[in-house]
Amino acid sequence: MELIDLRPCFLFLLFLLMSILGVVSSVDGHIADFDEVWQERAKKAQEDALAAYHPNPEEVTGHLNHEVKLSLSRNESRRQLAVNRGKCVATNPIDQCWRCKQDWESNRKRLADCVVGFGRNTTGGKDGDIYVVYDSSDDDLVSPKKGTLRHAVIQDEPLWIIFSRSMMIRLSEELMVNSNKTIDGRGHQVHIHNGAGITIQFVKNVIIHGLHIHDIKAGGGGMIRDSPTHFGLRTRSDGDGISIFGSSNVWVDHVSMANCMDGMIDAIEMSTAITVSNCHFTNHNEALLFGANDHSANDTVMQITLAFNHFGRGLVQRLPRCRFGFCHVVNNHYSRWLMYAVGGSAHPTILSQGNRFNAPNLRFSKEVTKRDFGEESEWKHWQWRSEGDLFMNGAFFVESGPPFNKKAGSPKDMLTAFSASAVVRLTQFGGALHCVKGKAC
Ligand SMILES: *[C@@H]1O[C@H](CO)[C@@H](O)[C@H](O)[C@H]1NC(C)=O
Ligand SMILES: *[C@@H]1O[C@H](CO)[C@@H](O)[C@H](O)[C@H]1NC(C)=O
Ligand SMILES: *[C@@H]1O[C@H](CO)[C@@H](O)[C@H](O)[C@H]1NC(C)=O
Repeated sequence: MELIDLRPCFLFLLFLLMSILGVVSSVDGHIADFDEVWQERAKKAQEDALAAYHPNPEEVTGHLNHEVKLSLSRNESRRQLAVNRGKCVATNPIDQCWRCKQDWESNRKRLADCVVGFGRNTTGGKDGDIYVVYDSSDDDLVSPKKGTLRHAVIQDEPLWIIFSRSMMIRLSEELMVNSNKTIDGRGHQVHIHNGAGITIQFVKNVIIHGLHIHDIKAGGGGMIRDSPTHFGLRTRSDGDGISIFGSSNVWVDHVSMANCMDGMIDAIEMSTAITVSNCHFTNHNEALLFGANDHSANDTVMQITLAFNHFGRGLVQRLPRCRFGFCHVVNNHYSRWLMYAVGGSAHPTILSQGNRFNAPNLRFSKEVTKRDFGEESEWKHWQWRSEGDLFMNGAFFVESGPPFNKKAGSPKDMLTAFSASAVVRLTQFGGALHCVKGKAC
């Protein structure tokens, strides 16, 4: 309680301090030449992050739990229909909002109204035109060819980016996504693979939906265009699947991810207002990193929802690993990890609700949680709470800090997450879907 009440005050002080010092990021973020354009973007990104920060996170977590409860109460009749007519079944509130509608193809932008959690204000390219990617090549990084994914994502105006056919895209270097974009892979099987990954740096409002992202490698760096009016030199990239750096309002939904060289999804350097939902993760060591180091106290603004994801086979650790901020880990399906599932350092707040934690058959990896760099006398104050989680095969969660205050705010805030017994159903369609035009997806 104490922690929560202090946070707005802390943020205000942080903001004051940053304004006085005129601080801009000293972290290079692979920007070799931190020119005026990047300085301006970094400054704007800080302001956007502070504006996107929600002073009462329990209002957001409570709203999500309420939506899940509603979606499950709708499920029975739909499930019956599905059994009877072989139709679409959408089990969670995000999917119920669009998936079973036959006109998903002609009404793609409805998706932007479906997000819940901290990323719920994300609209991506909703206000823009549709851009059709028809060329899978990525040969010219400074003057990308029209029709390529790189040409689409660097544009300044809002765009809803779709694909003309199934394609395998091998990115030569990081894909620098500009603000107000949706990358929507529905209708085809679009793979980003065997090359560099997606970078969302100092921008705002991006949706990534329905892609397969796997076997991502570090890019060597070089001249890369990031907007129609700017390009610059970048150093070697890390090999993350999706790197969110100093960006706010990002929603990653129904993405299948496996085997990236560094992280699968990293959110660092004052990134916030993020939802990662309906994804399917497999075969990876350090999967989700939220907050890069124990010195970036500005990551206190970070608020991230992880919901309805399936953490499948071959995952080792960091599902996720959180620092400083608020991580809502809700209704996810963990089918075995190798080291631990949920971890962190630097006193993050972790609210784990209605997850299904199935521990591996490894004697020393039964604990869901892992705390780095902190004596018990210190971490016992970190607020890590488990509510309504289901523990299987010996899994256990070590709680710390005070319980969440359920009395504050509206009646909705008081709802706890729906029992984890529904999680297999809530997450069963994780990853990129096989949507066919004219049919429910
Ligand atoms: C966040 O804080 C760290 C450590 O003080 C600093 O290096 C970094 O530049 C800051 N980032 C932003 C976006 O202000
Ligand atoms: C979303 O936008 C509304 C309206 O501007 C705002 O009140 C809210 O704090 C924002 N953030 C979240 C997570 O809802
Ligand atoms: C994104 O779109 C919003 C609303 O259309 C607009 O106000 C904003 O300036 C855009 N952001 C950028 C960086 O282009």
